[in-house]
Amino acid sequence: MIKRGKFITIEGTEGVGKSTNIEFIKEYLVRQGIPLLLTREPGGTPLAEEIREMLLKRRDEKMDESTELLLIFAARSQHLQQVILPALKGGRWVLSDRFTDATYAYQGGGRGLNISLITDLEERIQGELRPDLTLLLDIDVKLGLERAGRRGELDRFENEQLPFFEKVRKAYLKRIQESPDRCMVIDASPSLRVVQESIKKVLEPKIEEFLAEN
Ligand code: TMP
Repeated sequence: MIKRGKFITIEGTEGVGKSTNIEFIKEYLVRQGIPLLLTREPGGTPLAEEIREMLLKRRDEKMDESTELLLIFAARSQHLQQVILPALKGGRWVLSDRFTDATYAYQGGGRGLNISLITDLEERIQGELRPDLTLLLDIDVKLGLERAGRRGELDRFENEQLPFFEKVRKAYLKRIQESPDRCMVIDASPSLRVVQESIKKVLEPKIEEFLAEN
C-alpha cells in the first residue's frame, strides 16, 4: 500500500517573505528525496485560479464578507478534490502556500466573521483533512508592510489598512497557539539567513519524524 503523503502549509501576513521561504522549504524537502507538489490558495487549479482572480480584483461593488468566505471555500473544494487529495493518496507530499488557517485569520480575524461558520465549512469541505504541519512566518505588522513595499497595483487584500492586518496577525497567533502539535511560529523579522536557519531547525526533526512513521 502507498504511504499517504504529508500535507505542509505555510502562512503569514504581508511582507514575511513567504515566497522566498517557500522556495527554500521546497528545495530542502526535494533534497531529502521527498516527492513534492507545490501549490497555493486560493488557487491551485485553473478553476480555483479564476476564483482567486475574483477574490483579489478590486471593483466598485463591495464584496460581501460571506461571499468572500464562500468563494474561498469554493476554490478550496476544487483544489482539494482535483489536486491535494489525489496527490496525498498517491504518496506525494503537498506544500501549500496558505490553507484554512488563512481563512480563520483573514475572514475570521480580519473581517470579523463568525468562527463557527468557518468551522462548519471546514468540516463539510475538508472532512478529516487537516495539515500535518503548519509554519507561521510571523512579523510585526508595521515592519511587514514596510518590507512589502506596497508598490504598484495593490490587490483587494493588500489594499487593506494596518488595523485589518493587526487583527489578521492576532487571529493567526491565537490559532497557532490552539494547535501546538501541528503549528510552529517562525520569527520572520531577522535577516533571511537567520529566518531560514530557524525554519531548518524546526523542519528537520519534524521531517525525520514523518519519514520514520510506518
Ligand atoms: P497571497 O498573496 O499569499 O497569494 O494570498 C492571496 C490573498 O488571499 C492574501 O491576501 C490572503 C487572502 N486569503 C484569505 O483572505 N483567506 C484565505 O483563506 C486564503 C487562503 C487567502
